[in-house]
Amino acid sequence: MTIERTFVMVKPDGVQRGLVGEVIRRLERKGLKLVAMKLVRLDRATAEAHYAVHREKPFYRALVDFVTAGPVVPMVWEGPSAVEVVRNLLGATDGRRAAPGTIRGDYGADIQMNLVHGSDSPETAAAEIALHFRPEEIVEWSRTLEAWLHEEG
Ligand code: RTP
Ligand code: MG
Repeated sequence: MTIERTFVMVKPDGVQRGLVGEVIRRLERKGLKLVAMKLVRLDRATAEAHYAVHREKPFYRALVDFVTAGPVVPMVWEGPSAVEVVRNLLGATDGRRAAPGTIRGDYGADIQMNLVHGSDSPETAAAEIALHFRPEEIVEWSRTLEAWLHEEG
């Protein structure tokens, strides 16, 4: 079993719509562990770096405009296969196609305004965590409940 960390961010539409608590609730209930969180307004340079992989895409400029248009809630979550687990909880990129029961499937109907970002690989997660958080903002803590959430090793 691999304990991973993943970067999750409630996007400006999720904050504006009052869905921060709902996103956190779903990740907590899944058994993931929150190790960092803040509310910030991304500056343009950080947003551009965050979405650098999409630099050549036609939607890049609109995407950077969108994620800098209001406050976001960047977070780091930890758990077994956390990257994949979070991606599954978020659902497909386009809210119109995302399965019911997923966050995007239940709350969104747009491809750009899809409420939450989740890293797409452990390597991307490490880079995104380093981009958005200083090392001292990540909190190491242990849960007494751990033994009831997943097996050892
Ligand atoms: P994310 O990176 O935000 O977790 O989303 P994702 O992996 O599911 O989707 P990705 O392909 O990485 O796209 C990043 C974000 O760009 C916006 N987008 N707009 N207008 C469009 O065609 C389009 N395609 C993607 C979405 O906000 C998407 O989450
Ligand atoms: Mg992505």
